Amino acid sequence: MSIQKDQLIMKGISKTFPGVKALDEVSFEIISGEVHSLIGQNGAGKSTLMGILNGITKPDDGQILFNNKVVKIDDPKDAFNLNLSIVHQEFALCNNLTVAENIYLGDEPHNKSGFVNYKKMHLDAKILLESINVNLSTNKIVGNLNTSQWQIIEICKALAKKPKFIVMDEPTASLDEKQIDNLFEIINTLKNNGIGIIYISHKLKEIIHISDRITVLKDGKINDSFLKNEVNEEGLIKSMIGKNISIKNNNQNIINFQKPILKINNYSYSNTFKKIRMDLYEGEILGLSGLLGSGANELLRCIFGIIKQDNGQLSLNDKVVTINKPRDAIVNGIGYIPSDRKNEGLIQNNSIKDNSVLTIFNKLTKMGFFKFNAAAKTTNNYVKKLDIKASNIDSFVMNLSGGNQQKVVIAKWLVKNCKILLFDEPTRGIDIAAKTQIWKLISEFTNEGGSVIVVSNEIPELIINCNRIITMQKGLISNTFNHEDFNEQKISLNISSK
Ligand SMILES: Nc1ncnc2c1ncn2[C@@H]1O[C@H](COP(=O)(O)OP(=O)(O)OP(=O)(O)O)[C@@H](O)[C@H]1O
Ligand SMILES: [Mg+2]
Repeated sequence: MSIQKDQLIMKGISKTFPGVKALDEVSFEIISGEVHSLIGQNGAGKSTLMGILNGITKPDDGQILFNNKVVKIDDPKDAFNLNLSIVHQEFALCNNLTVAENIYLGDEPHNKSGFVNYKKMHLDAKILLESINVNLSTNKIVGNLNTSQWQIIEICKALAKKPKFIVMDEPTASLDEKQIDNLFEIINTLKNNGIGIIYISHKLKEIIHISDRITVLKDGKINDSFLKNEVNEEGLIKSMIGKNISIKNNNQNIINFQKPILKINNYSYSNTFKKIRMDLYEGEILGLSGLLGSGANELLRCIFGIIKQDNGQLSLNDKVVTINKPRDAIVNGIGYIPSDRKNEGLIQNNSIKDNSVLTIFNKLTKMGFFKFNAAAKTTNNYVKKLDIKASNIDSFVMNLSGGNQQKVVIAKWLVKNCKILLFDEPTRGIDIAAKTQIWKLISEFTNEGGSVIVVSNEIPELIINCNRIITMQKGLISNTFNHEDFNEQKISLNISSK
């Protein structure tokens, strides 16, 4: 006996935002037990389409059919009633609540007297986390966790609703290799249980690996649809962008490894990293790579003064400098592009212009007057340089697609003329064309004498662009690779937990 498969169809969906036609008669379907991927450049309309499926965004036109019957999805509750869950691209967690409280928020188990049954809630959360091989205490306060852990909690939130269909909008953007493998196992289990998965990612290798079908959106329209094994990475890039493209090395600097511009000596912080010694040279792109818990992201935050080291010294051009807070780092010419752009990187309900010139606000103010024209000129310059897709520079950043928001964060620091830039996962959620642009900008910055530390788990990208790569494991430096010794396998081995 064959099992009845459910089918969800979006038909002729259109949506226009002021100044942007985000979707133009898009049709898309998902069937139980398949992974149907949706790909496209930043701003192509992927999240908007999923917002419509989840009842967050109202379409101007089009229909949604469940098993050939038209259904109305006017709000997320309607989507929930159709057993549809979504793992959103941007995190929506309550920082002051625990892991378990976040997973079951709005759907808490109650006891007979009507009170929240915390014991059951924590037990259910524990079972759920264990079922997907995640070792995380359900009592932890979410605000104290990192972006990968937030991503896992978002996935758990969606799974807790026991969905028939699940949308994953860039679920692996903040996950390391090991966690991605883990997620793929979860996806395979879900598939075998008859759950249909809509999968969105800019990581094309993943897309090829996990998808049964792949649909390409381009400028709000369906451009192509492929079955598994019908297409390779180049084919997908060509369909998304219209031409072949690959990340190239633009970093031509010959580094003088005699005099470091930044020197870290014996840096330790809590249980997170220990006795770190590291040098950064003028014109250098230094890659820093490690899995969750390696301490790499925290080390960057410490250099910028967001967290304060317990021990150790930092020197700039041989002079010891005290960095107690981000202001101290900025005054000393250090900028930081965080991985959590939504909360740390941008003021969401401000314009692209206001965000871009935030770091040079004083410079643009003369005798109490703000130089609007200069601000607009600078912003337009970076919008063009970074190819930021928006109707104009006065658009609020919260209305930009995820990838375009990331570009605004980068613009904000590039305008500042820092000497050192610290990038935490700069190409997270960025399409291949924009990745090449961002690496080009990083190289240009170093070609002009700036120095960069990039924390990233995208080892192939680091190999192409960095002068040296330092690997970290469990809070310690495990190895340093010079350019001539770069080897993807060896680097991977040096970051994996043995
Ligand atoms: N609320 C909104 N108001 C105005 N414009 C919007 C709004 N939401 C999305 N847009 C615009 O619609 C277009 C599609 O955005 P969407 O977020 O769907 O892209 P995406 O394919 O998910 O991109 P990314 O890969 O960067 O996440 C973009 O040009 C975006 O700026
Ligand atoms: Mg998106």
